[in-house]
Amino acid sequence: MEHVNRVALIGTGAVGSSYAFALLNQGVADELVMIDLNKEKSEGDAMDLNHGLAFAPANKKIWFGDYADCESADLVVITAGANQKPGETRLDLLEKNTAIFKSIVDSVMKSGFDGIFLVATNPVDILTYMTWKFSGLPTERVIGSGTILDTARLRFKLSEYFNIDTRNVHAYIMGEHGDSELPVWSHANVAGRSVFDRIKDHPHLYDVKDLEGIFEQVRDAAYHIIERKGATHYGIAMGLVRLTKAILHNENAVLTVSGYLQGQYGMADLYIGVPAIVNRKGIQEIIELNLDQDERDKFHASASLLKEAMEPVIH
Ligand code: LAC
Repeated sequence: MEHVNRVALIGTGAVGSSYAFALLNQGVADELVMIDLNKEKSEGDAMDLNHGLAFAPANKKIWFGDYADCESADLVVITAGANQKPGETRLDLLEKNTAIFKSIVDSVMKSGFDGIFLVATNPVDILTYMTWKFSGLPTERVIGSGTILDTARLRFKLSEYFNIDTRNVHAYIMGEHGDSELPVWSHANVAGRSVFDRIKDHPHLYDVKDLEGIFEQVRDAAYHIIERKGATHYGIAMGLVRLTKAILHNENAVLTVSGYLQGQYGMADLYIGVPAIVNRKGIQEIIELNLDQDERDKFHASASLLKEAMEPVIH
């Protein structure tokens, strides 16, 4: 009998329901159980999604359930918690969301869950660390969405700038999913050439000084979206589906997730955005790039900021 892939979604707010909608439309997973304190809304979401099944690329069992349904889940995705209000940083959400996470993770583990956690709630790097601590699962089976969306934003902005398909633009954002993140220009390439060579190829079209502005638009994207529509949810939801596919389909895909460092990049005992190989086991391997000195300094600064910010909540 073929394995039935079950995803349990904790939190059906804007991000969670967008994730559920994207999962259905991309035909990922066989079962989706939705869990939320707001029973009415979550039940309504399940009903609404089921009514779209006739149009979906694959069948799926979707229902509003409870923590007991996590027992046989392969993946528990946590999007529950408060999100940024205009002018709020992601780190400002730490205290209130840490309290919520303790009860969520305890409830999931009480079901007998023995799969993989995927965390999206902000501040995602620290909440992924807390999920690991609360769950007692091995580090590789607790993954944060990290800078997967920031990397996608950078690839989009570079594809727009160079007028080349996003799928032929490869560049990473590493570090905190937040204001201290950094672009890894030393490993960024467009159509197989470094971004610097691409710029040199067409000096009348491109200028290396434009890269800083592109990065700032990426780093501050969430603030600009929140100012306009109050929240971000489509981009992160699609990033979460990308991660779900990499895990359930055992893809060995390289994605910039929040992963646990044990000495890589000279840092240890924190979760932070790094390129990693993701498959059915969770994080198979964290890729250690040869960052240049400026990138290494920025990465260490971001890691130190995270370690300092999580001090009050890890004890
Ligand atoms: C953003 C949220 C997911 O960057 O933090 O849009």
